[in-house]
Amino acid sequence: MTQLKTWPWQRRNFLKATAVSAAVLLTPKADAAANSCEITPSTEDGPLYPAEDIPWASDLTRMPGRSGTARGQIAYLFGQIKSFDCRPVSDATVEIWQADNNGYYKHPRHTAPNGLDPHFRYFAKVRTDAAGRYMIKTIVPKWYRIFDIDRAAHIHMKVRSPNHGVVTSEIYFSGEDQDALRKRDRVYQSRRDKEKLVVQRDDRIGDPELRSTLENDAAICNFDVMYRL
Ligand SMILES: [Fe+2]
Repeated sequence: MTQLKTWPWQRRNFLKATAVSAAVLLTPKADAAANSCEITPSTEDGPLYPAEDIPWASDLTRMPGRSGTARGQIAYLFGQIKSFDCRPVSDATVEIWQADNNGYYKHPRHTAPNGLDPHFRYFAKVRTDAAGRYMIKTIVPKWYRIFDIDRAAHIHMKVRSPNHGVVTSEIYFSGEDQDALRKRDRVYQSRRDKEKLVVQRDDRIGDPELRSTLENDAAICNFDVMYRL
């Protein structure tokens, strides 16, 4: 089981926890995130919620026992889980599930004609630390079509806490290509407060030297989740 035990932008701990070759130091961002108290728009699971157990893992770009890496733009997704009164929620479980670089989910309802990416996990879960924070290394998924709807690239997230309940949401990405996709994505367009679901792909504040230790075009995306009362 790979799981973060400490706030992952404490670089050494992140490296130890995920065994990846790069990390993110975003302490100033952590302070900014702590001051962000906006209710997260909730969505539904959708038809492609994982049909099998979701493993504990903070790195979706590698599979145990395999040396290859997932295809696609690397994304470091991080944030803080907060209660309705904006207090950190520790020990929450953060699940994500998403499409791969070809726009396919690992799900019986979504058949990839050329097969799935053998190096991509497709879904995983982590636990928040004492300050309610999480980090997951994954890829920016490709857009996909389902039920005749073109879905802009997004990552599904479900947060579970024994004391605070469940929040399900979706994370979309900034950029001209995604702006165009979201305009014709009828599901996204139907979301309330949908702009809050869009993350910047370079939400990095911190030591610029660290950029040289990350994958060249890695996306750095902050997505906080705050419970509704
Ligand atoms: Fe989806």
